[in-house]
Amino acid sequence: MGLLIRHGTIVTADARYRADLYAEGETVTRIGAGLDAPPDAEVVDATGKLIFPGFIDPHVHVHLPFMGTCAKDTHATASVAALVGGTTTYIEMCCPTRNDDAPAAYQLWKTKAAGNSACDYAFHMSVTRHDAATDAQLGEIVADGTASFKIYLAYQGSSGVDDGELYRILRLAKRLGAITVGHCENAVIVEHRQQELLALGRTGPEWHEPSRPEVVEAEGTNRFATFLEATGAAGCVAHVSCESALERAVAARSRGVRLWIEAVVPHLLLDRAYAERPGVDGMKYIMSPPLRDRRNQKPLWDALAQGLIDTVATDHCPLDTAQKLRGADAFPLIPNGLAGIEDRVNLLWTYGVERGRLDLHRFVDAASTRPARLFGLFPRKGTIAVGSDADLVVYDPQWRGVVSARSQLCNSDYNPFEGFPVAGRPSVVTVRGRVQVRDGRFVGQPGRGRMLRREPAYF
Ligand code: URP
Ligand code: ZN
Repeated sequence: MGLLIRHGTIVTADARYRADLYAEGETVTRIGAGLDAPPDAEVVDATGKLIFPGFIDPHVHVHLPFMGTCAKDTHATASVAALVGGTTTYIEMCCPTRNDDAPAAYQLWKTKAAGNSACDYAFHMSVTRHDAATDAQLGEIVADGTASFKIYLAYQGSSGVDDGELYRILRLAKRLGAITVGHCENAVIVEHRQQELLALGRTGPEWHEPSRPEVVEAEGTNRFATFLEATGAAGCVAHVSCESALERAVAARSRGVRLWIEAVVPHLLLDRAYAERPGVDGMKYIMSPPLRDRRNQKPLWDALAQGLIDTVATDHCPLDTAQKLRGADAFPLIPNGLAGIEDRVNLLWTYGVERGRLDLHRFVDAASTRPARLFGLFPRKGTIAVGSDADLVVYDPQWRGVVSARSQLCNSDYNPFEGFPVAGRPSVVTVRGRVQVRDGRFVGQPGRGRMLRREPAYF
């Protein structure tokens, strides 16, 4: 059965025009004025609506055993939450610990997702150690279509790598044509500062940020960039949170390092005052890099508007209040992570486009097109064109609502953006030509999502 979307305004990263759009099967087959369709085609009236390419969240955690607990979503819950929020593809971090076998972990993550995700998905493979087996193992994983890696400079002892491993992993990534996403914080400084603060009796969540101050991230970002420069590999700095780290990344790129930059919604909209709330209310806002002083937000928004920050992700990692309380006596034990997969697009639209901080096309670019280009999904995903997958978001800019845990679909008992007004939401969301969401409700086929295999890119 075909799908006809008529009377809407199509918006991509570089164009805005009124046209109808027809999808035959899974693919966009016609775009033009006054399109007709067979009588059995599903027709969506998009009068007054914008039609965006399906949004792509390039950094999420779904299955994540971490800091003694496990993120709360399943692929079923995360994908439905994503879709209701307009995200039709997510890239999940496959995150073994140092002690795990990489191929076994990769199989486990694939098995967890297969048949359970309602939208399409791909993986970044976290490389959490480098030994004699790593090159061959990662070669197989890239050959299976997972052509991007993740490394952690933070979390030494669990998922972090040392500098020697970093060098060897980036050499391997270059040889295999895989881009590497880097979590850039200096683990040694963090470890020392955590111990110093605890020794002074500073145990609450308000000490999380001081334990990993901006300089920790600036150093990590600079080191990652330096290693990229030395190896010639391509990388993406994950979740840049502050001006000083941003400056290091931009400086590296301007001297020719193949480096891209990701921001995440919490650092754009929340600040350290949230984590300074007493007790569990503060614990709910613990993530790494931490929420920063508010003065960092304008430089992040400006860099995003200018395209210096390439992509906006979530680092979605839903935990509930009881899990956060694991660190009630010592902030380093508070599991890190915030949810966001459901709210990213509406928040970026509202606080970016609607507030005049972000051009409409840059919004599409940062939340869809550039993630697709960077991670080997373009032009199948990330644009609206004949031949592209019919992943479409019919967006209602007139809708008004408020973010609330009461109505959210992701599996957590709170929402870090609770009470934030939003000025727009998807009214219809399609995945490969099939309507999966209507008016804020999942109406589609669970488990329809496919793993997206990506070719190596020799950047
Ligand atoms: O705080 C964060 N970012 N939690 C998710 C786990 C990670 O660091 O990737
Ligand atoms: Zn992450």
